[in-house]
Amino acid sequence: MAMKRLLRSLNGEAVWPPPVWLMRQAGRYLPEYRAVRARVPDFVTLCTSPDLAAEVTLQPIRRYGFDAAILFSDILILPWALGHGLAFKEGEGPVLPRLRDAAGVAALDPRRLAEKTAPVMETVRRIRAGLRAEGFGNTALIGFAGAPFTVACYMVEGGGSKDFAAVRAMAYAEPDLFARLMDTLTEATIAYLSAQVEAGAEVLMLFDSWAGVLSPGLFRRHAAAPAQRIVSALKARHPDVPVIGFPRLAGILARDYAATGVDGIGIDTGSDIGAIAALLPPGLAVQGNLDPMALVAGGEALRTETRAILAAMKGRPFVFNLGHGIVPQTPPENVAALLELVRAG
Ligand code: CP3
Repeated sequence: MAMKRLLRSLNGEAVWPPPVWLMRQAGRYLPEYRAVRARVPDFVTLCTSPDLAAEVTLQPIRRYGFDAAILFSDILILPWALGHGLAFKEGEGPVLPRLRDAAGVAALDPRRLAEKTAPVMETVRRIRAGLRAEGFGNTALIGFAGAPFTVACYMVEGGGSKDFAAVRAMAYAEPDLFARLMDTLTEATIAYLSAQVEAGAEVLMLFDSWAGVLSPGLFRRHAAAPAQRIVSALKARHPDVPVIGFPRLAGILARDYAATGVDGIGIDTGSDIGAIAALLPPGLAVQGNLDPMALVAGGEALRTETRAILAAMKGRPFVFNLGHGIVPQTPPENVAALLELVRAG
């Protein structure tokens, strides 16, 4: 069978029109997602119910025919599987116990991982079977994890934060403790992503949403170095499975991140994608970076922004995406309009 379009781009080919998928493409902007979400008491139950999680993964593929399906789960399922608490409170996002000391790190138990994430692996198998059964032969399945630093951010802060002050201070003031936390998360991430490949994931993505809050020195130590360790361990086991890294808000440090061995790099909304891409190796695929709010607005703003990105990326390996996740107020018809624009090249 011919190679799927997303895999060709990640293999360094300037596929045109580019493959397209959207971060958070399954979610609350879709009425069919809200209908499934209403059947479960909480979000973690949705993530650990293979039939429902596979169903919501496939919903946006049926509607739009994206070049990739992304496993429906969450980056915080990994710490949850290690025994850390996790709740999603309506309207305020994730809430976790605050990890601030050695006892908190020692309580994380990697031996629980395989059993607790078994439903996620079953979801991956069902998505692959569903894509085949429904005739989406060109849609690649992306598995993912949060990068260790971003996962540590939520664990140390106890949820989201406007500046992630506690985790940044811990990285400086308690380097040994923080290194133990990062080590535990890095090893667990390797095992978790490797299991996703064994279950059928064809591409892996590492979400480092808060990498950009780190100083350059700490970025190299806590974003680039763990990514390199994860990518080399995965490549040793699964040499043909490409990895996309998303060091959000990294700016010019995307250059350091490109040296980790990733096959693709996600660029956030605030970065000039052409200027950043010019700093990267020409064979490295770039992914991004439409402003999710241009997708909310639609019309002329959507056309102008989309065409500027396409013009800047034509001729290099590229994957069209947003610069951050799709937001719940996005009109579904604007997503259809975007797909048409991208597919016109
Ligand atoms: O992209 C996809 O469609 C796949 C599924 C996916 C979700 N979260 C589903 C989700 C993926 C890949 C994620 C990644 C994720 N989760 C990140 C990294 C990317 C980014 O956005 O920066 C982060 C930081 C999280 C943590 C997280 N999960 C937050 C902060 C929130 C609350 C914010 C919100 O939108 O409510 C979540 C919840 C979440 N994860 C929802 C979905 C669909 C909404 C929960 C619901 O439907 O009730």
